[in-house]
Amino acid sequence: MLGVPLEQVTQAVEAALDAGYRHIDTAYNYLNEEAVGAGLRNWLEETGKSRSEVFVVTKLPMIGMYEGGVEKFLKKSLEKLQLGYVDLYLIHLPVGMKSNDDNDIFPVVNGQINVDFATDLIAVWREMEKMKTLGLTRSIGVSNFSIPQMRKICAVAKVKPSVHQVELHAHLRSKTCKSSARVTTSPLLPTLPVPRRKQMTRLRFKHEVPELLEDPVVRLVAERHSVSSAQVLLRFLVQQGIIAIPKSVTPSRIVANNDVWKFALSDTEMAALKSLDKGPQGRSFLFADRPWLREHPECPA
Ligand SMILES: NC(=O)c1ccc[n+]([C@@H]2O[C@H](COP(=O)([O-])OP(=O)(O)OC[C@H]3O[C@@H](n4cnc5c(N)ncnc54)[C@H](OP(=O)(O)O)[C@@H]3O)[C@@H](O)[C@H]2O)c1
Repeated sequence: MLGVPLEQVTQAVEAALDAGYRHIDTAYNYLNEEAVGAGLRNWLEETGKSRSEVFVVTKLPMIGMYEGGVEKFLKKSLEKLQLGYVDLYLIHLPVGMKSNDDNDIFPVVNGQINVDFATDLIAVWREMEKMKTLGLTRSIGVSNFSIPQMRKICAVAKVKPSVHQVELHAHLRSKTCKSSARVTTSPLLPTLPVPRRKQMTRLRFKHEVPELLEDPVVRLVAERHSVSSAQVLLRFLVQQGIIAIPKSVTPSRIVANNDVWKFALSDTEMAALKSLDKGPQGRSFLFADRPWLREHPECPA
């Protein structure tokens, strides 16, 4: 929901819950937690459903990766979301930043992103574990970590990451740690032009247009099942046991993206879709392309 007008975010959350979605993904960095919380609150009031029916995920910003920062920023997120706890709290990126302003999520000093080169992932993970003990989150996990970073955390963790949220789709079948549930961040690949996604322009360097949705193999499989390319791509992930979290503000797409349970891809179709893997070339989050990230000892890839 990044770069989406806040009113539209609230409406999209309500539409998604009405359509049967129960997993809502947001982040402090998306600057939309109030709008997500409003949508959730409206829906709970209108339907009389209980909070426990919805699985709410938010993420620790890079500017909160220090002792005391994790609790401070999780409490801020909970206040914005109007919730007493989240179901899952993720470390958004394995790289910390230093900011004097809690609203400045990409702090710049002398024209450079003010990266914290001393980011200590183990110390941050210890703080994440405390959040679970405090009952502020039901489970904890990571996002955009490399396999060595996952191993580093798992080697010392009292509570292992239950989820790893990473970019995964038919063009990028990257290897990730199998010990955590895998959640894909870009199941379809972004179709919005980068300038509209203002908050992410520093991270989303490469823009892979709807290339994947228009791929002839994907379209052929879609035709065979009388579904859309997006539904094929989502089903492709679901059938591999990956949790897909598609984003849409378009009501018809919100409904269609959750309608992937009435057809199954054959082994041949799965193999054909797997063959679309482009390896590292298929990645749209090119972390190592940015000097401020590349030079950090915890740059993920
Ligand atoms: N952890 C991280 O670092 C990270 C990074 C990025 C994203 N995420 C999370 O990952 C999730 C999805 O991410 P995303 O927005 O980057 O990518 P996405 O879900 O792959 O793509 C979203 C784009 O596809 C369009 N779309 C959705 N359904 C469609 C359909 N059926 N047909 C055609 N186009 C369709 C949407 O347009 P409309 O909205 O206009 O319909 C939107 O522009 C979000 O929950 C996000 O929070 C996490």
